[in-house]
Formats: sequence, structure tokens, C-alpha cells
Amino acid sequence: MCGIIGVIARRDVGATLLEGLKNLEYRGYDSAGFAVIRDGDGFVVRKEVGRVGQLDQYLPDAAGGKIGIAHTRWATHGPPTQINAHPHLSNDGRFAIVHNGIIENYAVLRELLEKYGVRFVSQTDSEVVAQLIAHEARNGAADPIREAVLRLEGTFGLLILDRENPNRLVAVRQGSPLLIGIGEGEYYAASDAAAILAHTRQVIYIDDGEIAEITLDGFQTHTFANEPVVHAPSRIDWEIESIEKGGYPHFMLKEIMEQPQALRNCFAGRLRPVEGTVRLGGIAPLEDDFIRRLGRLVITGCGTAWHAGLVGEYLLEELARLSVEVEYASELRYRNPILGYGDLLIAISQSGETADTLAALREARLRGARVMGICNVVGSTIAREAGIGVYTHAGPEIGVASTKAFVTQVATLAMLAIQWGRLRGVLSHVDATRLAESLEQIPNHIAHACGQSDTIRAIAEAYADTSNALYLGRGINFPIALEGALKLKEIAYIHAEGYPAAEMKHGPIALIDERMPVVVIATEDKIRDKILSNIHEIRARKGRVVAVATEGDTAIAENASHVIYVPRVPPILSPLVNVIPLQLLAYHAAAIRGCEIDKPRNLAKSVTVE
Ligand code: M6R
Repeated sequence: MCGIIGVIARRDVGATLLEGLKNLEYRGYDSAGFAVIRDGDGFVVRKEVGRVGQLDQYLPDAAGGKIGIAHTRWATHGPPTQINAHPHLSNDGRFAIVHNGIIENYAVLRELLEKYGVRFVSQTDSEVVAQLIAHEARNGAADPIREAVLRLEGTFGLLILDRENPNRLVAVRQGSPLLIGIGEGEYYAASDAAAILAHTRQVIYIDDGEIAEITLDGFQTHTFANEPVVHAPSRIDWEIESIEKGGYPHFMLKEIMEQPQALRNCFAGRLRPVEGTVRLGGIAPLEDDFIRRLGRLVITGCGTAWHAGLVGEYLLEELARLSVEVEYASELRYRNPILGYGDLLIAISQSGETADTLAALREARLRGARVMGICNVVGSTIAREAGIGVYTHAGPEIGVASTKAFVTQVATLAMLAIQWGRLRGVLSHVDATRLAESLEQIPNHIAHACGQSDTIRAIAEAYADTSNALYLGRGINFPIALEGALKLKEIAYIHAEGYPAAEMKHGPIALIDERMPVVVIATEDKIRDKILSNIHEIRARKGRVVAVATEGDTAIAENASHVIYVPRVPPILSPLVNVIPLQLLAYHAAAIRGCEIDKPRNLAKSVTVE
């Protein structure tokens, strides 16, 4: 996630801006930059790809700058390059902006501004903000910033400097966090308190739909409709370490709780329930006819990404009537796969750097197949080599155990299945609209599931001393059983196996006794009754059942030792919600067992070797 900081003071602010950026590094970023207005000679802008520390060399250039803004970028639109790094300037050099969030209608605005002769230099969605403000100013708007903001759609935390009004810092908030710090005769604005905590603990939190104008004399806040707003200051009692984790004890828990927002970011500008469509811009180079005639579709990835691919198989088969195969990348690369002209390979990878997934992608391309990526890290090797693909926009995932990356990968595959289902003429407009509407509601359902963390912790207490566990699911929830088992293995060091529920009687049932906990995904769908029968079979052998069931399903509760209820959603989208309790169960079991959750033993976040 991007981080932003702005400072206005009676002293040079360069060092404070860079120190603020360093305190935002934990959020993850790929490039950074700052801009100051230097007495008498306008903006000084410096940017670099890579570490914030590289900006230190430019500190002397900021001398004389008593107002400035700075940014750590986590790329969403356009790869991590110096040009795409923030701050962005308007063509006329009057306005400089830094942005945290996504401007959903940037393409429309950019096209419009280009018609007026505006020349864009970056590939970002953010640059449109600087250019739009300058355009409004040229058109004589009394308040060009407000006029421009009214035309933006999406999420934004913005800090804006105006060379013609060099004693004012403007902060705008819509959907991205922003606060103002009150110092001794100086003021700060930041996306996150960590950036300013070394200077002040007195802050006000700006609300969505508000603009704050900050000068050395103080600040004024008003709504986008220009109505004044007054906020009472609050005091921050947290230390930097706990802010980094958002107040959570571990990044993994923070990232679990962030999933509703990660999904909203993933859907932004793509999911259009009103039109009944999905538009994934990054796959436009795959010609419609190619998708209509697609022979073989192979999905590949490793670990959690491979599980997301398995859910994708169900989605694409059901909604787009495509015949899909899902292969471990490490296996695919050394086989002699039947992949060639007319076929498509989808490589899924959070990091975009996993060696086996990259090798599988290269192998498929060598054999003449088309390739596309589903990646989180913009500009990563897999994303660049695939050329075609979809970014999941989950934001940086720091915990080794993949959580928000998984749900955004599955959501991306769901969007892909809807888009291709329509394109291939196998999904009706009505059904596509209904699904898009349901998908849009999933973040709320996930938030509800996250709200059960305490209940799940109590269940984890009862099983934390176990050495083994079975996870069962059927249909589209079989991969969720695999994912739940993987989470428990990797962070709680408990041996766990995921199985299709009906396979139990072909072997694993022999393991069941009073010591074996069995986690069963038993939410409502056409085979829920068969799952209930499986639960009876486990109970008959004294196994302990932890069931994930649909709210109100008392029959499951009566037959399970513990039940975790999740909201009712269309069964085809249920993996997105059902995985949440399993992530939390593994998390709490690991916490109770005292495991090192964010960096489990022997594991790396990104496996760049074979
Ligand atoms: O970065 P990738 O998505 O390519 O990583 C793939 C796997 O290494 C990863 O999903 C791994 O299985 C996670 N630790 C699971 O939580």
C-alpha cells in the first residue's frame, strides 16, 4: 500500500519527509519520492525505484524547502519506474500531488484531458489528479482542487501542493486513511500515524469526503460540498511497532482482517453489476475469438496460488464452460505437457517471482501457448513476462502465510469466469448481473466472518495440542479444505490433510478416533446433505467435528462438536467466505502454541529457487 506524508514548517522539511517515509517502509513499496517548494524557485522533485534510503542523496537539493510532500509507492497502475513514482506534477508545473488509493475513472479522465492537449508522462492512475486540477485552474475554477476532486471516482488520500499558493498544503480523503498531525507551530499530514509519530502525537482524523487546507496558522476542514467541519484532536498512545501492524499482534492477523478492503480494491473499476458485466482491462489483448475457441486452458501456481487455481477450475468450468486443468507449476515444468498453439496458460502468483511458476510460464510460451498472469506485485517478473494479465491489488502481503492474496486471486478468477462466460455466450446477462451483485457483497460477508475471531480462538484452544487434523470439503470447497490444512501446517506446525469429503471412506476414515479433529466445510449447496452424512460417519467413530456451516443451519450444529457460522452466499462464491474461519483457526492455533506466525520456520515469502 502506498504511504504519504506532507509537512509545512518554519524550517527545512526534507529530512522530516524522508524520516517519515522510512517509518512507512513496513507497508511495503517499490519506489519513493518527494517534492518541496523551495523559496523563490519552485518545485524540487526527486524520485527513485527501490529503497527510500536512496533519496538521502537528494537531501541537499531540498534545502530551503519549508513545505513538502512525499510518497512510498506500491504499484497498481504502471510498473515500478522512476517516472511512475510519485509525486506527479501537472504539465504546467503548477501542482504536485501524492496519492494513496485507486482512481477508478482515470482512463476516461485521461482520454478527456488528452483531447485538451494535456500530455501525460506516466502510466499511473494518479497523474490524472495533478493534470485535472491544473486543467480546472486553466478553466478559471475558483477552487480547482475541489472541482477536480468532485470528478474523481475511486479511493484517494491526496496531498497537493500549489506553486502559486506555496504556503498551503491541501489534504483530501475519500476511502483512504488520512490524518493531520499538530506540531509546535508546524503541521503534518499522513496516511498513517507511523510517519509523524516522532514529531507529534496530537492528530485529527479527516473523514471521507473532506478536504483540509493546512497553513502555518492552522487548518480548516470542509466537505466536498464546501460545508465546514470541525474535528476534535485525539492523542495517539500507540508505539510505532504496533502501528505497523495496525494494532494487531501479527501481520497475518492484520492481513486477514484487511481482506474486505483488499477485495474492494480488487473489484474497483472492474465489477459493474449495474451493466451486468465485468471488465478486466489487462486481458484485452486476448482476442474475443481466441477465448471463444479456446481449446485447452491450464492454470498453474504453487502452494496457496495452486489452491486458488483449483477454485478457478470450478468457476471457469461452471460459468464459462471451459475445460480447465490445474497443474502444480513444479510438475508442469518438467512434464511433456500437451500445450501449444490455441491454448492458454494462466500463471497465478502473489509475488510474481516464484521460480517454478515462472519456469512453467516460459515452458508454455516456448510450446506456442498464450500465457497470462494473475499477480499481486505489479511489475514482477511473471507479470512482465506474461504481458497479459490481471493484478489482484491485494496490497503488500508481509505474513508468509498467504491470506488476502488468496481471496483476491479467487475473486479475480470469479470475475474472469463471469467475463468469459458472457463472451462465450454461456452465461446469461441476468445470471451475470446477479453474480456480479453477489460478488460485490462478498467483502461485507468476509467482514462478518472476521468478526468471529474470538469464537474461533475458543475453538482453537480446544484443539491446539493436537498433532493431526483432517479437513474435508466437497466440490468448489474441496480446495478450501486443502488451503485450511496448508495454513494449519505452515504456521501451527500441526500435520493436516485436506480431502474431498466423499474420499474419506476410501482411506482416511481409518485414522478417525476420539483424538482426531475433523474440520468439515458444510455450508449450504446441493451436496450439503451428503456432507451431513459424512459428519455422521465421523461422529460414529468418535471423531471431533468442527463444522463451518451456513447461518441458521441447526442440523449441522447438532451433529458437530463445534460450529462456525458464516453468512449465506451463492454456493459458487462460498470459498471466498468459507476460507476465513480456516485462516483464523490456523492463526489462533499457532498463537496459542507460541509459533512464530509471520515467519514460520523453514519458509520464505517468495520461493525464487527451485
Ligand atoms: O508468490 P506466490 O503466490 O507464487 O507463492 C506461492 C507459494 O509459495 C505460496 O502461496 C505459499 O504456499 C504460501 N506460504 C502459502 O501460505
